Order: sequence, then structure tokens, then C-alpha cells
Amino acid sequence: MNDINTYITTPIYYLNGKPHLGHAYTTILGDILRRTFELRGENVFYTTGTDEHGQKNFDTIQKLNMTFEDYVKEYSQNFKNLFKKLGIDYDLFVQTSCPHHTKIVKQCLQRVYDNGLIIKKKYTGLYCKGCEQFKKESDLDENGCCPYHQEQPVEISEENYFLPLEPYREWLKEYIENNPDWIQPSSFRTEILNMLKQPLEDLCISRPKNRVHLGVEIPFDTDYITYIWFDALINYISSLDWPNNDTNMCKFWPNSIHIMAKDIIKPHCIYWPIMLKALGLLPPHRIMIHGFLVGEGGVKMSKSLGNVIDPEEMVDKIGADAFRFVLVNLMNKNSDTQVSENIIFNAYNRLANTFGNLYFRTCKLIEKFNEGIIPDIVLDSSDMQFVLSMAEKLKSVLLDTKNIYDIQSNTEVIFDISSKLNYYIDQKQPWNLAKDEARHDELLSTLYVLSEGVRMLGIAISPIMPSVSQKILTSLSFDMRESSIENMFTINTTKFRKIQAPEILFPRLCDKDTQAN
Ligand code: MSP
Repeated sequence: MNDINTYITTPIYYLNGKPHLGHAYTTILGDILRRTFELRGENVFYTTGTDEHGQKNFDTIQKLNMTFEDYVKEYSQNFKNLFKKLGIDYDLFVQTSCPHHTKIVKQCLQRVYDNGLIIKKKYTGLYCKGCEQFKKESDLDENGCCPYHQEQPVEISEENYFLPLEPYREWLKEYIENNPDWIQPSSFRTEILNMLKQPLEDLCISRPKNRVHLGVEIPFDTDYITYIWFDALINYISSLDWPNNDTNMCKFWPNSIHIMAKDIIKPHCIYWPIMLKALGLLPPHRIMIHGFLVGEGGVKMSKSLGNVIDPEEMVDKIGADAFRFVLVNLMNKNSDTQVSENIIFNAYNRLANTFGNLYFRTCKLIEKFNEGIIPDIVLDSSDMQFVLSMAEKLKSVLLDTKNIYDIQSNTEVIFDISSKLNYYIDQKQPWNLAKDEARHDELLSTLYVLSEGVRMLGIAISPIMPSVSQKILTSLSFDMRESSIENMFTINTTKFRKIQAPEILFPRLCDKDTQAN
């Protein structure tokens, strides 16, 4: 392990519903990054969790006629179950209703208040319950609805506490200009810089208790509870136990990465750095934003349109690893991505037919033509060149910092190398080489190239498909823990090893699976 500490976070998700494909995607992405950094020897702290306060949760509890405790237990468990099923391995599952977090929210509020940065005033505005945010007319669509929730916000007029944001606008603009990698991809950076061209409205950080019932009581006025976004954003530091544990903060905050979709960039890229500044802290290291997964035709997935994809059902059909791979392979870097069950099945078939097929063919050829032993042979220069160029590309998937975040391109590298190796088999025709004693070395060289290619592919996919990777490497008798990441991509490490019988990594989908629901 090296001495780099990395902190990865997902948003904490609202509890009021079943976890859906979008939640699955962001959390898979975080898990892939975690595993990639860990392979590089870094020490990673990865958090996800649930946002359990606010009006939306309150309304759901009323509708379900449940106690808050039962609701939180049952609904957060749904997220934990899904993440387990997806092979997601986090270090901490944040729950904003736990006493540890609520205590820290109060500490932070008190600090900002004591610094004289909070004011009280009357405010009238349009409030979207879905976003739990006040909206400006310009935020709404032509029907006066919130574009994310398709509901008209309601006018609310009340006295509240505010954190004025305008005094920080110039500082934030400069920070973003001086740190071009802070918000990624850059299209979202431009969007935030555009927002910062206008004066910023004061951020309302309280809600009167008589209107909103679920939340952290404001420490300096018990008639109010904390605005859900102020409460939720604090999770990123309460997870590190700041302000009670400076060591942890110093260890992880300088290399902190927040992952989220485009819907919540304003709270993360404007409110959050300003809240941190008011607390005397620096912005997070990086904010990684992705687009939305939408239904075919670009429409939002909804039960009424019948285009919802249930991540649990998908895992039952194609397996967790393939589902992870397919999702990150389909997701566009700079725009929304249309998905349907058919689109997912097609991507699955592509994975099965290239990578899955290559693995199976390779093992079968070694079994048949060299008694299942990875051959001991000096490669000729063209084979050597081929293996070295694959090693270079696959190594950079895991080691090159600019590639690490471009997971979609990395999945294409996997496809590309698998196709090249499949083509190599077709060209070499090992079944014909085996018929000619004079070409025995060429046969062994071919088998060796294939085993090395598959081994390196098996390593490169490990953050995305950890179980499949494990199966491949075990069947090649290769243990990743035995060598450093650099050494994994040097050749000669697998010779003389006996391979185990391959299994079908991605079974053919049966008709029942592919029938549209
Ligand atoms: N509770 C707030 C976040 C507070 S973080 C301090 C919230 N919750 S949410 O349940 O609405 O989750 C929003 C996040 O879920 C998105 O930013 C994204 O990570 C994920 N997704 C939700 N729907 C999505 C898609 N359709 N597509 C991709 N990801 C989406 O906002």
C-alpha cells in the first residue's frame, strides 16, 4: 500500500421509494473507482447512504402510516440490499437520522452562526418539494413546472435563517477558473460559471417546525429545523467525523471525490463550497458529474410509461458483474443515455460474444493442445510485440489517471483487445498448427499469447467485474495478490501453470429473460 488516501462519496439518496437504476449507476461508479484506486495501492474510504429528513420523507411516512423508525429501517435496508446484490463494497453507509450525523450538523450550524454569517429574514418564494429547494422562474419549464419533477412549485412565505452566498461569489468564480479540473466534465463547469454570472440569492438554511417536521433542530432557535440540503451536504464531513477528528479530515479531505448526476450540481458546486468556506474548510478535491439514464426516446423512466428498469431484476437476469459492465459501457460521457431492457441485453450479448467467448476458446484450446498447461515458450518478435502492446493499453486503463475516470472508454478497450485476440485465433488457426509437428513452437507461442491476453484482460476488468475477474484468474492459476500492479502486466508470470476447466462466464439469455415486460 502507498501513502495516498482517497475519499469517494456518492450522493445520499432520498428514502421515499425503491432504489432505482440511477442510484445503482452512481453507486456502481463509485465502487469501480474505489477498486481501481485500491489496485493502485491507495487507501480508499468510500461512502454512500440515505437522506432521511425533509418534507418528502415526511409525506411518504404519512402515506404509509409507518413510524419514522420503521420507515428508516425498512427503506434504507432496500438500498443496502441492492448495493450488496450489485457487489458494491462501501466503508460507511451514511444515515442522516443517526445521532452522530445530527450532532455534527448542529456543531456546524453553531460555528457558522457564531462566525456571524447567518441572518434571519422573511422570504417569499416558489418551493419544489421534489428538489427540496426554492426555485426561480428561470429554473422552471414552459408550464411553470420543475424540469426534474414535472410539478409546479408552491409559493411559500415565511421567516427563516439564511446564509448569504453573494459575498463568496467572486471567490468561488476564481476558484473554479483556477482549478479547471475541479468540476468534471467541463460542460458542467461552464454551466456553474454561467450561474455565477448572476448575483447569488441568500441560501435559506432553516424550515419552521410547524411546516416541516423531519430534520435536525437548529441549535440556536428550537422553533426551526435545518434545511435538508444543509443537513445532507454535511454528511461528507460528518463521515470523517469533522470537527471532532482533524486527523481523519487531513487524511482524506485533500483527495475527496464527490460523484453525482447533473440534477444536483447547484447544491454541490455552489452551496457546498461556500458552506465549507464558512466553516473554514477547503472545497472537495473533485466533483464528478454524469448525465441521466433515461428511457428510449429520451423520456424519463416512469411506472406509467412502463419503461422502468429494475436493477434487481436485471441482476437476476444477467448477473451483477455483467450488469455493472454493461451500465458503464452504455453511459455516455457528456449526455444523457437512453436505456431499455433490449439495449441492455444487446450490450450483454456483445460482452458474451467477444470477451466471454475469447476466454472460453482460450481455455479450451490450451486444454486440447497442451494438456491444460500454459506453455513455456519464447515468443517470436511479432507475438512479443502484440503482447506488449496489449499490456501497455491494459495497464494504462488502471494506472493512467486520465483514463481512470473514463470508464466507458476503458470498457471499449476491453472489447477492442478481446476482438483482436479473437481475430488472432482465427488467423493462427491453432487446430491446423497442431496438425503440423514442424509448427509446434508456433502453436505453443499462440497459446501463450492467448493466455497472457486473457490474464491481463482479467486483471484490467477487476474493478468493473470483480467476480468474473476472480473466476478467470483462478482458472489461470494466477493470484493478483502475488504481484504489484506493474508486474501484473509484465509477461512470463503464468508459465507452467495448469489451467482449470473454464465455465461459461455469460450464459446465453433464455427467451423468458429477454421478453419485454
Ligand atoms: N438526497 C439528495 C442528495 C443529497 S447529497 C448530499 C438527492 N437524492 S436522490 O435520491 O434524488 O438522488 C439523486 C442522485 O441519484 C443523482 O445525482 C444520481 O447520482 C442518482 N440518479 C437519480 N436518477 C438518475 C438517473 N435517471 N440517471 C442517473 N443517475 C441518477 O438528490
